[in-house]
Amino acid sequence: MAFFTTEGLIDRYRQRLPIGANTPAVTLREGSTPLIRLAKLAPSVALYAKYEGLNPTGSFKDRGMTMAVTKAAEDGAKAVICASTGNTSASAAAYAARAGMTAFVLIPEGKIARGKLAQAMMHGAKIIQIRGNFDDGMQLVKELAETLPVTIVNSINPYRLQGQKTAAFEIVEDLGRAPDYHCLPVGNAGNITAHWIGYTEAAGVQGTKACLHCHGDCSQMGIKLCDERPVMVGYQASGSAPFLRGEPVKSPDTVATAIRIGNPQSWDPALVVQEESGGWFDELSDDEILAAQKRLAAEEGVFCEPASAASVAGALRDIEAGKIKAGSTVVCTLTGHGLKDPDTAMAQTPDVGSLVDATREAVEDALSAHL
Ligand code: F0G
Repeated sequence: MAFFTTEGLIDRYRQRLPIGANTPAVTLREGSTPLIRLAKLAPSVALYAKYEGLNPTGSFKDRGMTMAVTKAAEDGAKAVICASTGNTSASAAAYAARAGMTAFVLIPEGKIARGKLAQAMMHGAKIIQIRGNFDDGMQLVKELAETLPVTIVNSINPYRLQGQKTAAFEIVEDLGRAPDYHCLPVGNAGNITAHWIGYTEAAGVQGTKACLHCHGDCSQMGIKLCDERPVMVGYQASGSAPFLRGEPVKSPDTVATAIRIGNPQSWDPALVVQEESGGWFDELSDDEILAAQKRLAAEEGVFCEPASAASVAGALRDIEAGKIKAGSTVVCTLTGHGLKDPDTAMAQTPDVGSLVDATREAVEDALSAHL
């Protein structure tokens, strides 16, 4: 099963990435995350979680950031910039620190999880809170980068998706084949696009239209790793579900702040992914997302952040409905670690437990209620 390595993903997959043979990687040993079988949640399928929360800064963003910052360093950049719902800013801040660059991060005031903010602060990012949402921040970043000496490290930077596609390689290598279905939470739709590019290259299929997003750079196909590609399924939070509405959402809202995005940057490529893979988008209420987050933690021992749980919440519903067929192999990406957002977790479980005297008798009494 899982293939453990001490290299970062650039060195693990250099030949499959648009990077020179000798370009030094800016790395924190990201990637090579575990694929964990979730046997209890859906016995009728082989369900797996790709636990991206175990990347160095606790989210899948590190896969893209090692590539984006490595390329920025190679080009002599002194500063990077991003808009973020939190994870991109944490990752950009860490990799920029490692490369000796300044990271500017634009975040929506009051709407990013506490752990992510702590990370950006500790890594020394220049944080600019805006009175607006992620989409406003993204627009500003694009405008600013036209004239200022800063490299954008949001997923519109094509190297981001190139790094993120490596998750698909790892899954294929772990399973010995591609899954039948791959389920992801969708915000900007960069990650679902990156996975499709990865599976397409792993299957040796030339010319997915989604690759246009990466400037048509399909030149590093490498040896074929699998025969089939999965059906790609994207789940959004109901309050932030532009793909379900068929148009951008002006004031997106959801407890899953990571995917509180109304105007996805990878809109067109994501529709290509849907069409080419025969997949679909669906939406989940905040309650459904939080219930799945709790079940994953309480029944499987896997703690992810709310946005990540959208993939499992959606998969479970579609398995139940028969849309995802019994007997199939299903991978859900858990995009970020549960520790990113302790406030939402604590709000779900407000009762910390009993408070008793520090005596054997009192503690035994407390235990016996559960034995
Ligand atoms: N899950 C988590 C935990 C995320 O942080 C994000 C995006 C997504 C899912 C959605 O991925 O945008 O590629 O469809 N977070 C970005 C950020 C927007 O700023 O950290 P996507």
